[in-house]
Amino acid sequence: MAINALASGLPLLLLTLIFQLQLRCGSSGITSPYRRRLQASEDLPVGSEFLRPPDLAGCGNAPEQVHITQGSVTADSMIVSWVTPSQPGSLAVTFGNETAKYSRTATGNITRYKYANYTSGYIHHVKLTNLEYATKYYYRLGDGECAREFWFVTPPKSGPDVAYTFGVIGDLGQTYDSLNTFQHYLNSSGQTVLYVGDLSYADHYPLGDNTRWDTWGRLVEPSTAYQPWIWTAGNHELDYRPEFSEVVPFKPYLHRYQTPHRSSKSTSQLWYSINRASAHIIVLSSYSAYGKYTPQWAWLQNDLQNINRKKTPWVIVLMHSPWYNSNMYHYMEGETMRVQFEAWLVQYKVDIVFAGHVHAYERSHRVSNIEYNVVNGQCSPSRNESAPVYITVGDGGNIEGLAGNFTQPQPNYSAYREASFGHAMLEIKNRTHAFYYWHRNQDGEAVKSDSTWLTNRHNYVKEKRSLPRRRLPL
Ligand SMILES: *[C@@H]1O[C@H](CO)[C@@H](O)[C@H](O)[C@H]1NC(C)=O
Ligand SMILES: *[C@@H]1O[C@H](CO)[C@@H](O)[C@H](O)[C@H]1NC(C)=O
Ligand SMILES: *[C@@H]1O[C@H](CO)[C@@H](O)[C@H](O)[C@H]1NC(C)=O
Ligand SMILES: *[C@@H]1O[C@H](CO)[C@@H](O)[C@H](O)[C@H]1NC(C)=O
Ligand SMILES: *[C@@H]1O[C@H](CO)[C@@H](O)[C@H](O)[C@H]1NC(C)=O
Ligand SMILES: *[C@@H]1O[C@H](CO)[C@@H](O)[C@H](O)[C@H]1NC(C)=O
Ligand SMILES: *[C@@H]1O[C@H](CO)[C@@H](O)[C@H](O)[C@H]1NC(C)=O
Ligand SMILES: *[C@@H]1O[C@H](CO)[C@@H](O)[C@H](O)[C@H]1NC(C)=O
Ligand SMILES: [Fe+2]
Repeated sequence: MAINALASGLPLLLLTLIFQLQLRCGSSGITSPYRRRLQASEDLPVGSEFLRPPDLAGCGNAPEQVHITQGSVTADSMIVSWVTPSQPGSLAVTFGNETAKYSRTATGNITRYKYANYTSGYIHHVKLTNLEYATKYYYRLGDGECAREFWFVTPPKSGPDVAYTFGVIGDLGQTYDSLNTFQHYLNSSGQTVLYVGDLSYADHYPLGDNTRWDTWGRLVEPSTAYQPWIWTAGNHELDYRPEFSEVVPFKPYLHRYQTPHRSSKSTSQLWYSINRASAHIIVLSSYSAYGKYTPQWAWLQNDLQNINRKKTPWVIVLMHSPWYNSNMYHYMEGETMRVQFEAWLVQYKVDIVFAGHVHAYERSHRVSNIEYNVVNGQCSPSRNESAPVYITVGDGGNIEGLAGNFTQPQPNYSAYREASFGHAMLEIKNRTHAFYYWHRNQDGEAVKSDSTWLTNRHNYVKEKRSLPRRRLPL
């Protein structure tokens, strides 16, 4: 009887097992049911306390929009940038390791530009060189009544086990939601922001009103003056507007945001690389040529070949338009660049790719889609432990609102997706482990809505050796 019961129960048991297995394979991804208002959010008014110029008594020309970025591949120099509205003002940055005592002075360049009916203020860029690693520096801009002091801590010297915490923000803009994201980040333990493109959204206004570039610079100054943000250009940096004769792409962005591109042998501010702590960070330009033989293509190949994974085991790539995006918004826009570069990223075991552009959050499994060759039909992404994790954080909170329309069902390469504003954090612990998490703005900074441990591809993945084939009897 026991045997009979077992026999009759067996098919059911098997079916249940198979069903459960299928369920597990089929539901590897999470589409968060969390729903929020999807309408566009509003920009902060120009007069908002968060966008106002600094008000220094007796000074009509205060340095503003202060931002710093790493000045070379190594972290022993810093580029300091700021704008003075009506006159050049002091050209110097005075700096030193104690507040109000400045042992050194550096000077740099001033630039200005016109865009439609707008003329920029005086944009200063000064490089501070020969800095000590992991040292706090105070620096002063302007003099007399116009003096303002800030500080930064130089990153540590690169090494395989140097811990470091990155924030990741994209598509921020300057709405009430942008402010919310930014204030959440200010409360985090982030030491620098990896910014994945689309900064001010000034191009939303008539004639691309560039005073909105100025307000954006002031909005983010409470972080950018103190931490070296790493810049990536997005489509809202293009500012290519033939309808009012502005035909030089990236004009406002390139005047305002310097990058250390020459130090990494790049010919353009728009793509470059740096070393930071235990990470090698590569910035790519989704809106510059990347086809075979183009400068960006040649540069990336050379850069990937020359990474010293013994010194910087983590390789992180930043770009604006994501390669893996299961949202209907900007669907497949990153496909041509994926086809061009994905094989290299798998070959060189890139750890993480961060992108923005899509106003939602998504994290992929480690997948690759490089087997496809037009005729072999192998066109679905497959798991590959040498491949990066792809993360989209275009959810900073800009004026265009959220992208809530995901493709259904969730593709099996997608691990987690949610249409909420927020930002991500990456805590690199040592040469093998990093903890990654994403915050939605509706929760306090302590709540992690999506999180995962990431293991280093260079130090962790040991390629499975194929077993010797057993000889079959003939
Ligand atoms: C600043 O640097 C000087 C010279 O290296 C050193 O003597 C001094 O102790 C430093 N001050 C601080 C606060 O670290
Ligand atoms: C430029 O044009 C815009 C839109 O017509 C207008 O609002 C703004 O006041 C103008 N700015 C200047 C400096 O003329
Ligand atoms: C200043 O301009 C010169 C010449 O164009 C350039 O070589 C240098 O890198 C610039 N310095 C900074 C800090 O931008
Ligand atoms: C940031 O921290 C401060 C002080 O703890 C708190 O008052 C504020 O609400 C926090 N802001 C956010 C956005 O979490
Ligand atoms: C997704 O499912 C297809 C079909 O079952 C499979 O070929 C593919 O390898 C899977 N991809 C991932 C990333 O799991
Ligand atoms: C991952 O991709 C690489 C490069 O194409 C390939 O050599 C390797 O076999 C793939 N691994 C798996 C598990 O598919
Ligand atoms: C979502 O995208 C699909 C495909 O583009 C479209 O047909 C549909 O109308 C969209 N739905 C919403 C609510 O926007
Ligand atoms: C690296 O960090 C992880 C996570 O904190 C820890 O478990 C591991 O022991 C560390 N490895 C070494 C060699 O310290
Ligand atoms: Fe974008």
